[in-house]
Amino acid sequence: MLKNQKNEEKRVKINVTPPGPEAKRIIEMDEKYLVTSTKSLPIVAKRGYGSFLEDVDGNVYLDFSTGISVNNLGHIHPKVKKAVEEQLDKLWHFAGTDFYYEEQVKAARALTEVAPGKFSKKVFFANSGTEANEAAIKISKAFTKKQQFISFIGGFHGRSQGSLSLTASKPIQRKGFFPTMPGVEHAPYPNPYRNPFGIDGYEEPEELENRVIDFIDRYMLKTYVPADNLAAFVVEPIQGEGGYIVPPKNFHKKLRKLADENNVLVVMDEVQTGFGRTGKFFASEHFGVEPEVISVAKAIASGIPMGGVIVNSRLDFSEPSLHSNTFGGNALASAACVATVNTIREEKLLENATKQGEYFKRRLNELAEKDESIGDVRGMGLMLALDFVKDRKTREPNAKLRDRVELKSLENGLILLSTGLSAIRIIPPLNVSSEEIDMSMECLEKAIRASH
Ligand SMILES: Cc1ncc(COP(=O)(O)O)c(C=O)c1O
Repeated sequence: MLKNQKNEEKRVKINVTPPGPEAKRIIEMDEKYLVTSTKSLPIVAKRGYGSFLEDVDGNVYLDFSTGISVNNLGHIHPKVKKAVEEQLDKLWHFAGTDFYYEEQVKAARALTEVAPGKFSKKVFFANSGTEANEAAIKISKAFTKKQQFISFIGGFHGRSQGSLSLTASKPIQRKGFFPTMPGVEHAPYPNPYRNPFGIDGYEEPEELENRVIDFIDRYMLKTYVPADNLAAFVVEPIQGEGGYIVPPKNFHKKLRKLADENNVLVVMDEVQTGFGRTGKFFASEHFGVEPEVISVAKAIASGIPMGGVIVNSRLDFSEPSLHSNTFGGNALASAACVATVNTIREEKLLENATKQGEYFKRRLNELAEKDESIGDVRGMGLMLALDFVKDRKTREPNAKLRDRVELKSLENGLILLSTGLSAIRIIPPLNVSSEEIDMSMECLEKAIRASH
């Protein structure tokens, strides 16, 4: 596929256990010059191609972390590369919120065409997921003239002070940063595997949906969150950083009904679930809902930073300058976004994600049948996760085992990333092949065996 690149090993090759000497040198410099962040694995990338990534010591890995669900077309897809290269010769930046250029309009049109819902839509462009959600907050406030929000326990919406107020997946994300934006309350998410109601949501999905909706309605809206102040629910269709939690299938419809009854918007955060990851452009489509506000980022421009909100046109700001930024709709990112949408369509990547996702899940379920420490195999399309437990009955999380599996997988040549309490996410590119999946399963099985 990538004709111009030489020496592309299309197989895993580990010369030296990471971090090798070159990696160690760069990690040391990183520690000196970069502020402490979320780094957890000792891998230093040199270049990527398709599903593979080569590190600075010549190791070759299967990259099934896709830069946290950004490289959905694999590394350096030739069609996106060509679009960006062509754009590089024309225009890089011209403040898309203040002036006009066609690339930005084309990107907005492409996003509105693939987003669910027959109504007309408009886009505000940002540069990241957190910034997309900041815009969603402001659009919701400006349209409804209300100020409060309900988001969900386990949800992740970003780390800037506004979106952080919605985020609730790990204490460390909020520790020491209060006060965040006031007026946000959190509701339980219908997590079928572990929830505060003690309901097995796989066995009794409706019971779980109803219990959560009833909690929001009777215990929140009718006691301490006045619907007259509530601007929006902010929710992920499938929780990402919370552990790849797939809610029962009618939950989102029921939430929307409750929202409509109370004149409240629903902001669907598709930053991680979007852009083909689950086998549809947007995960909302699996749940039969057509959100009026969708936050996007990550994969929409295949690794060129870009975020945005796609909204029902009726929610547009009522006057200029209520919201803006400098880089939103940047020309290079816009060109990459259009090429990404076209490539997903032309190469039938939604179909491939569905097909390979089913195959991958079957292989993971077979693995779980043999290994008691895997308590749950979950996900949709190529948004998959394994949850490690101390005991299948109690479902007590086993984060230590999960962390070992993550590290051992890396040492075997498979890049995976943890999520939630005790899960490991498996997010290959949408154009992954079954041979690559088989290769990854070998690394993973070996890693789990070595971790016990
Ligand atoms: C659902 C969701 N929303 C928002 C964000 C924040 O995106 P960013 O890291 O680009 O600010 C993330 C990041 O993981 C996410 O998964």
